[in-house]
Amino acid sequence: MTGTSSTQWQLAWETHLGPADHEVVGALLARSYAATTTVFTPGHSWAGARPELRVLGWQRDELVAHAGVVRRFLRAGGHSQLVGDVGLVAVHPGHQGEGLGGALLDVVRRTLVQLAAPYGFLTCDPDLRPFYARSGWVALADTDLCSVGIDHRTEHDRRNGMLLPVLAPLDAWPAGPVERNGQEI
Ligand SMILES: CC(C)(COP(=O)(O)OP(=O)(O)OC[C@H]1O[C@@H](n2cnc3c(N)ncnc32)[C@H](O)[C@@H]1OP(=O)(O)O)[C@@H](O)C(=O)NCCC(=O)NCCS
Repeated sequence: MTGTSSTQWQLAWETHLGPADHEVVGALLARSYAATTTVFTPGHSWAGARPELRVLGWQRDELVAHAGVVRRFLRAGGHSQLVGDVGLVAVHPGHQGEGLGGALLDVVRRTLVQLAAPYGFLTCDPDLRPFYARSGWVALADTDLCSVGIDHRTEHDRRNGMLLPVLAPLDAWPAGPVERNGQEI
C-alpha cells in the first residue's frame, strides 16, 4: 500500500505562515535533509531564499511532504525567462519510498499551472535526476548554470539544472547558458 492516497495537500502562501508553522515545516526539512549538507536553523523553514508558496502534504495531523516554489526570471541564452523555481523538496524519512515524492511533484506541477509559470526549474545533485525525470523533469546537463548558492556565493559552471515544461513546450526554452540571479531556495 502506498502512503499517497491518505495524504491531504495544502498550499500556503509565505506570509500566511506563523512561527508554529515554520517550526513544523523546519522540523520536517531538518529530518529529511539530515544526510545532506543543508542545515536548517530551528524555527526556520528555509535554508536559502524564502519560497513564495509552500506545497504541504499531511497525513492526519503529521506533515509528511513539502516543496517550496518562488516565481522568478532566469536569464537563459541572454533572454529573461519566467520560471517557477522549486526547492526544499522533502518527504518524511519514515514515509520515503512509498510514492509520496512522486505525488508531491504532481501537486507541484499543478501548482505551477495555477501560478501561470511556463516552466518549472530546480537544481539537484545528479544522482537525484531519475527521481525528477520520472515526473517529467528534464536535466539541463549540458547547460552551464551560474547561480547564487544557499551560502550566498556565486557558483559558476554548475550543470545541475532541471526543467519542467508546464505551459510552454521544452523546445521553446531559450538555448544557452542559464543565470539564476537570485539565491537558491
Ligand atoms: C527525494 C525524495 C523527496 C523522494 O521522496 P520519496 O517519497 O522517497 O520518492 P518516491 O517514493 O516517490 O520515489 C520515486 C522514485 O525516485 C527514487 N528516488 C527517491 N529518492 C532518491 C534519491 N535520493 N536518489 C535517487 N533516486 C531516488 C526512488 O527510488 C523511486 O524510484 P523507484 O520507484 O524506481 O524505486 C526523498 O528521498 C527526500 O526527501 N530526500 C531527502 C531530501 C532531498 O534530497 N530532497 C531533494 C533535494 S533536490
